[in-house]
Amino acid sequence: MNSSKRYKKSELINFTYNILKKVGLNNSNSKIISDLIIRADERGVWSHGIVRLPVYVNRIEKKAAKKNPNFKFKKISNNIFHLSGDNGLGYLAANAGIKKCVALAKEKGIGLVAISKSNHFGMAANYLEFASKNKCIAWVYTNASKALPPHGAMAPFFGTSPFAFGCPTKNKNKPFILDMASSSVARGKLKFAAQKKIKIPFGYALDKFGKPTNDGSKAFEGIMLPFGGMKGAGISWMMDIVAGIFTGANHSGKVKNAINDFSGPSNVGHLMICMRTDLFQSHNSFIKKIEFGFKKVKKLKKAKGFKTILHPGEPEYLNYLSNKKKGISLSRGIIIELNKLAQKYNVKTPFKI
Ligand SMILES: NC(=O)c1ccc[n+]([C@@H]2O[C@H](COP(=O)([O-])OP(=O)(O)OC[C@H]3O[C@@H](n4cnc5c(N)ncnc54)[C@H](O)[C@@H]3O)[C@@H](O)[C@H]2O)c1
Repeated sequence: MNSSKRYKKSELINFTYNILKKVGLNNSNSKIISDLIIRADERGVWSHGIVRLPVYVNRIEKKAAKKNPNFKFKKISNNIFHLSGDNGLGYLAANAGIKKCVALAKEKGIGLVAISKSNHFGMAANYLEFASKNKCIAWVYTNASKALPPHGAMAPFFGTSPFAFGCPTKNKNKPFILDMASSSVARGKLKFAAQKKIKIPFGYALDKFGKPTNDGSKAFEGIMLPFGGMKGAGISWMMDIVAGIFTGANHSGKVKNAINDFSGPSNVGHLMICMRTDLFQSHNSFIKKIEFGFKKVKKLKKAKGFKTILHPGEPEYLNYLSNKKKGISLSRGIIIELNKLAQKYNVKTPFKI
């Protein structure tokens, strides 16, 4: 990110909230969504932060998503529920889903919530953070519109669907969170590289002729690749099975693209599984062992170029500490888009170029 001015988290939340309110979302929905979107910026996951606001607003304006959905949880068994997201923004269904899933885990040990008729839910870590603060180990899966080829294909078919796992550590604000897109890199970051004419590593994408490229623009016009060859391709396929087919959502290339397909609901699916940490030992014993592992890992001999070894979730925690102190920086391109929204909806903007 390359803006000289940095913004307070509260400025970004207020702006997002005010836009969503003007678009027609109620107070509660605007609050839930603005908090979750800006949490991504705060953790340095800017590809899934306020940059996405114009896309969500556009989807609502085009009536491809509902402003204020009506949720219906359906009981499948004592600890398994299904939720129809009623085509609201994915943040709402996912937020309700993880709360239910954690409550089920607290009562029954394990909870499972499957969600269909949802939309893009942003940064998966949001839901894992909630689960880990509530002493749960959690998996949060989603499928997504087609962006990645199955191994060996030259056409997008599966989503960049993140694999997301989290569990608590001693520090409530620094859980172990492995939250990774099944693409080599988030598409937002590829777009940024294209705009800034930044070279990308070979292996991230093919150009439109199917040749490996390190040119951001050619990559953006071509096809993104999964991480780790057939292994990442397998994970994005798996995500389509568990979060798409299993939940009753769209699947097999049918999830509509949030940015440019307004022909109907996206019907994204999510799957959440939460387990209490104290099922086989006390919570404190679980945490002690996690911390023991961290200590051992930190003391290992470092590979060339590494001063320290971080656990998944730790880089984002460090971003959070830095952003909390210095403020959150936004690129000029994002500010221009946000100010257009501000003008359209007559909302006061804190953003200056
Ligand atoms: N909703 C959707 O459809 C969708 C689709 C794709 C991506 N996303 C979101 O995009 C976000 C970004 O995904 P990404 O794959 O670009 O993330 P990333 O590559 O920045 O990080 C992936 C994981 O690696 C860990 N990590 C990074 N550097 C590390 C280091 N030095 N040591 C140890 N661990 C390290 C991170 O903590 C993270 O858990 C995620 O929040 C994801 O949920 C959402």
